[in-house]
Amino acid sequence: MTDKSLGRFYALAQEFWSQLPPQARFRPLEDARIFARHREAMKAWVDSLVQGFYDTLFAHPATRAVFREGERPAREKTLRDWYLRTVEGPFNGQYFAWQTLVGLVHVRRGVTNAMMAAMWNWVVETASRLAREHLPKEEAQALADAWRRLGFTVMALISESYLHAYLEALAQAEGMEVGAFLRRAQEEAARLLRSLSPG
Ligand code: HEM
Repeated sequence: MTDKSLGRFYALAQEFWSQLPPQARFRPLEDARIFARHREAMKAWVDSLVQGFYDTLFAHPATRAVFREGERPAREKTLRDWYLRTVEGPFNGQYFAWQTLVGLVHVRRGVTNAMMAAMWNWVVETASRLAREHLPKEEAQALADAWRRLGFTVMALISESYLHAYLEALAQAEGMEVGAFLRRAQEEAARLLRSLSPG
């Protein structure tokens, strides 16, 4: 991936990031320090994390159906690279732009936001369990908290870019501006809610 192709996602990720209250999102200094303290320990968890991730997806018909015959080794490699880059750091604008792009890569294969959110939950839960098994109690809790904030933050970027991509595609098909399309979607939501309320 070139820096140029990331540029657009960089701006989008910045825009979505700025919507998240600082107390409620990943903390670039504090959380990055916690990740850095346990970098080597986390690198050693890569095999069990990647294996468990795909065992989980392949054990469930709806998620297994996304994959093509013989694709698993290639997918394991991309997840391995993703995990090692994540635990290596740094958590900079480029990292969050890349996560926004990764969200879209899934859209073209029919992976839903629901599946993405569930697997982020699985990653956070698994990293937290491994932390409890391998680290002193307080450090394990700090690392689990940092993973949770990372998971929610990245999922926020992914879900917004998913919506943005859909709106942009629809707006383009209708020859409209994205902003006008968004306003129309809000009006339609209000109308639908009114039609649901009694009386
Ligand atoms: C925590 C959630 C997830 C992470 C971090 C993740 C990570 C990644 C990464 C880094 C790539 C490579 C992107 C690229 O080519 O630049 C990828 C591709 C892919 N992932 Fe995921 N993934 C997640 C969830 C899922 C789920 C839930 C599914 C299916 C149910 C899935 C199926 C795929 C497929 C099919 C591709 C290949 C896409 C393509 O290039 O056509 N992933 N994933």
